[in-house]
Amino acid sequence: MKRFVIAIDGPAGAGKGTVARLVAERLGFLYVDTGAMYRALTLKALRCGIPLDSPVRLTEMARQTRIEMLPCAEGCRVLLDGTDVSEEIRSEEVSRNSHAVSSVREVREVLWKLQRSYRDRHNLVMEGRDIGSVVFPDAELKVYLDADLAERARRRWLQLKGKGIEADLTEIQRDLSARDRRDAGREIAPLVRLPDAVYVDSTRMRIEDEVALITRLAKERMACGSKRACD
Ligand code: DC
Repeated sequence: MKRFVIAIDGPAGAGKGTVARLVAERLGFLYVDTGAMYRALTLKALRCGIPLDSPVRLTEMARQTRIEMLPCAEGCRVLLDGTDVSEEIRSEEVSRNSHAVSSVREVREVLWKLQRSYRDRHNLVMEGRDIGSVVFPDAELKVYLDADLAERARRRWLQLKGKGIEADLTEIQRDLSARDRRDAGREIAPLVRLPDAVYVDSTRMRIEDEVALITRLAKERMACGSKRACD
């Protein structure tokens, strides 16, 4: 049976995780956070002392690593070689270094294979940077979720504050801006706004409205697909 895939791409801090998880919950689809996979490999490289400037060593490591995503109420838990690292992968150190891992083509190829395998058994909401462009160019629904840099920084700041972490808003904004440049400027699978993706600017939207919009679009396309009457 052909599975239905919703690909959600966009810059860091646009709220992809929350929205993707809620859409998946509404539709009964599997939610997959691909950023978490790059983070898990980064964590392993840091822990094992693998040089982040060695594509060969990083590739070798990626090929010998088992990553599993387990759905749960808060999204998905990430198992790295059988150990739950869902909290550890969110550290500042991992965030800062993950681009080194995600810019290696052969590492991405390992993860692309894993990401595509989820479609064999599930309808998916998968979020990341290259889901609509590389992983599932034939996704039934592609969304580019965006928000102003200042708003993304404000949300990140509030999120940290909620966890009791005092952070500097200007620094967060600078950091997000650097990540934007790296994500959009890298040679392999850069973040792009595809012409066939629905553009959603969440700067002034409420999460429930974003979720409602994406869910409605998905339902329309599912109905269309079953009647073979889409234009
Ligand atoms: O979305 P995030 O911040 O958790 O992503 C972590 C890192 O992985 C970040 O460097 C961007 C990268 N990434 C990627 O290159 N491709 C994806 N599909 C998802 C994330």
